[in-house]
Amino acid sequence: MRTGFEARGFEARWRAVLGEYPTGVAIISALGTDGRPHGLVVGTFSSVSMNPPLVSFMAMRGSRAYRASAGCDRFRVSVLGSRHEQLCRSFASADPERRFEVGRWRLDADGIPGLEDAVLWVRCRRLRTIAAGDHDIVLGEVEDLGSGPGGTPMLFHRGRYGSVVASVVA
Ligand SMILES: Cc1cc2nc3c(=O)[nH]c(=O)nc-3n(C[C@H](O)[C@H](O)[C@H](O)COP(=O)(O)O)c2cc1C
Repeated sequence: MRTGFEARGFEARWRAVLGEYPTGVAIISALGTDGRPHGLVVGTFSSVSMNPPLVSFMAMRGSRAYRASAGCDRFRVSVLGSRHEQLCRSFASADPERRFEVGRWRLDADGIPGLEDAVLWVRCRRLRTIAAGDHDIVLGEVEDLGSGPGGTPMLFHRGRYGSVVASVVA
């Protein structure tokens, strides 16, 4: 249902209007039930609640990486810095089997890859998945989290990569 929108050009208008909203960029990684690491780039990572500690992201249900990791009970979030633009582009466009070939990834105790030089990382237990249109809202209970080696967070805005300006993060 496209209430309030004309069907023609809806997608372009959707992208143009909502693309005005800037987001950070993160990689969600998990160890699939096939024993392989899987991951996808998201702009929808968000903190949800501090008590209890919850975070969320939204995944397109058709995503191959998401489908491969949908049965996993744990996932990691690696928030990207402005220096990760090439990594982000290559990760997002690579064959799902080859995504972890670029970047400095380290396996945690659960065998889940985390980006060593992420701006921040979060380790989660998957708490709940809520179907929402063509996406799933995934709620994770935070088991551990930390800051990475620093660096300026990456931003995504109007379909382009950018970064937080120094005066904001200083
Ligand atoms: C900056 C950026 C943000 C993205 N945000 C999301 C997101 O929040 N949720 C999502 O499912 N896909 C998002 N995508 C697309 C996914 O990374 C991925 O390409 C898509 O889900 C297809 O998944 P697959 O390649 O595993 O099949 C984003 C891509 C980019 C480049």
